[in-house]
Amino acid sequence: MSAARGFSALAKTPEERRLLGSAIAALAERYGLATKVAREPELAGILEEFIGRLQRAFGSLARVRGKRILDIGSGSNSSRSPVTGKRTAQFEPWFSRLVLELGGEPVALDAGDLAGETFIHHRVDLGKPGALDFLPAASFDGVQDSRVFGSPEFLAAYPSRGDHAHIKAELARQERRVLRPGGVLIHTDIA
Ligand SMILES: C[S@@+](CC[C@H](N)C(=O)[O-])C[C@H]1O[C@@H](n2cnc3c(N)ncnc32)[C@H](O)[C@@H]1O
Repeated sequence: MSAARGFSALAKTPEERRLLGSAIAALAERYGLATKVAREPELAGILEEFIGRLQRAFGSLARVRGKRILDIGSGSNSSRSPVTGKRTAQFEPWFSRLVLELGGEPVALDAGDLAGETFIHHRVDLGKPGALDFLPAASFDGVQDSRVFGSPEFLAAYPSRGDHAHIKAELARQERRVLRPGGVLIHTDIA
């Protein structure tokens, strides 16, 4: 079965089936998605989760086209698994890659290696006060933070639980600041 056909059941309309088919085929060709899913089957569940989040946030995958989307803690080509502590394909920047293939304009933020990715990306330490100040206010149609706070990288940089509440409060403030009126919080792990 091709990588694209495995995800097509998530499409809700013929238009979504076509869009998803071509996006997944591009992810397979450009980033070896099928080989990586065969090696790490959990990656399929992560992509399904991202597809569902975009459908719920924008009403349809077709509406992702032209949307500027901030991906906070996007994953990277050096990101590690919280389970094994080793580098994993699961936490490559799949959300931003998917948004790009659907015609959106992702902006990814991560402390890890994003060299070679063809969307806009910035290496930032999300725990530093003011780390997101360089992003203009009201400049995004959608924002997500996902799985940052339990990651090995975050827990190594900020082992003290006392820091977490401040960092989350600052990130929540920045998410509200950078969203345009009518923009959507696609997903957050900030309680
Ligand atoms: C588990 S991955 C999540 C990837 C993706 N967002 C997802 O939901 O699958 C967590 C990411 O957060 C990044 N990260 C953790 N702490 C960070 C920090 N202080 N500054 C920037 N990025 C950080 C890691 O480099 C890693 O790529």
